[in-house]
Amino acid sequence: MVKLRVTTTFILGFLTATIFVSVLQAEANSKMQKQPFGKTEDGQQTDLYLLTNKNGVEAAITNYGGTVVTLKVPDRNGKFDDVVLGYDKLEDYEAGKAYFGAIVGRYANRIAHAKFTLDGITYTLPKNDGDNHLHGVFNKRVWNAKDVSSGAGQALELTYLSKDGEDGFPGNLSVKVVYTLTNQNELKIDYSATTDKDTVLNLTNHCYFNLAGQGNGDILQQQLMIRADRFTPVDANLIPTGELRKVKGSPFDFTTSTVIGARIDQDDEQLKLGKGYDHNWVLNNSTAGSLFVAAQAYDSHSGRQLEVSTTEPGLQFYTGNFLDGIHGKGGKVYNRRYAFCLETQHFPDSPNHPQFPSTVLRRGQHFQSTTVYKFSTK
Ligand code: BGC
Repeated sequence: MVKLRVTTTFILGFLTATIFVSVLQAEANSKMQKQPFGKTEDGQQTDLYLLTNKNGVEAAITNYGGTVVTLKVPDRNGKFDDVVLGYDKLEDYEAGKAYFGAIVGRYANRIAHAKFTLDGITYTLPKNDGDNHLHGVFNKRVWNAKDVSSGAGQALELTYLSKDGEDGFPGNLSVKVVYTLTNQNELKIDYSATTDKDTVLNLTNHCYFNLAGQGNGDILQQQLMIRADRFTPVDANLIPTGELRKVKGSPFDFTTSTVIGARIDQDDEQLKLGKGYDHNWVLNNSTAGSLFVAAQAYDSHSGRQLEVSTTEPGLQFYTGNFLDGIHGKGGKVYNRRYAFCLETQHFPDSPNHPQFPSTVLRRGQHFQSTTVYKFSTK
């Protein structure tokens, strides 16, 4: 009898303690800090949200463009560094052209001749990259923000209504992006959208990573593995030719981990056109829609490793070829190839390539996509 009472008391005590710890954990997860990030030129207030996890990892995200402003992760000795490029001030983001850390849309990447036809109607978009349309305007918009932290981690929900005709695209598009910082040192990005008219969309995040810390030299000694047997070669305007070319035997083969700079300056037609790597890889993801480990980057000096998983079929690997002495955070200057981008997305110019995975979102359909950037050390 006594034994039973002791056991019951023990179990009850244990349960109470467990519940108490979970409540504390949920509370710790829910306290997201927020501070003003300044007013846009047209007078809109923006904020900076600080997401933290139990390991001390920090992601500062502004609702201006849904931009990841800083991302601080440890090296193998526990020293934290900010591993993304960016600016200190809102006005620099407003003036900037590099899309540092931003949510990119309505159509991430290029649309040839800034034109596409959908259901027999031709839509004309602004040309902002020679003859092409590139990346859209979502990175220059103020999004609505809401703290949606849960047991999964601190989370920031950002929503934006892209009006019918904005940038030339059809349909009122309601976009939701949720950033979650988990205790597994993952920055998870969930994208969803609905439209009231058939449209096209391609959403990505445009973080520029340097695993040695932002502004600390180029990324040419860092290593990369991409799980893709093919890529989409481009023409002189960086528009895919339509071919899905095997990477085997070329500088585009990252199927095993390879130093980024090992082949970047080789005498290769595609590398010359991109001025380095600036191409879309066709991920070996046969079950599109489920999370697939797409890439892994590693810096042997700091020991930092980044793993990218996505439900998207493509990955734009860009080596910051156009960075030309940009003055960034904390007085750092960003020169050519001081960062790499791993932009999970559908293929460039898909609306003009019916054989590529479709970027059409029909009225009433629900778009959903997830990408996870996971940090570790080894
Ligand atoms: C593109 C580059 C472009 C950069 C900044 C990348 O996604 O692939 O060509 O220069 O974005 O716009």
